[in-house]
Amino acid sequence: MMAWTSVCKINDILPNAGAAALLGDTQVAIFRVQDQFFALSNRDPFSQANVLSRGIVGSLDGKLVVASPIYKQHFTLDGGQCLEDPDVSIPHYAVRVDGDAVQISLSAE
Ligand code: FES
Repeated sequence: MMAWTSVCKINDILPNAGAAALLGDTQVAIFRVQDQFFALSNRDPFSQANVLSRGIVGSLDGKLVVASPIYKQHFTLDGGQCLEDPDVSIPHYAVRVDGDAVQISLSAE
């Protein structure tokens, strides 16, 4: 069974932008693209900084991505795969909307 935690309201996140949330000691970056939500680790594996929630959201090669504000690598919003380095991916988490609450589950998929 998945454990869901409400992290914010839908309108706390601007469209095409991210927000950071702390779940226990896990920093999560939540992104809203149109009416879809995605959650990734907030940690950029290249700079080791918790900055991905402040990255620019866009699309590259037909995939929705966030660009790290530090070294500009791109990570897919739905899977955390780094487009520049096939060996690197970051944790991604399940998200759902319940009423106007955005909820995240950190349980492994
Ligand atoms: S949805 Fe991509 S591995 Fe879970």
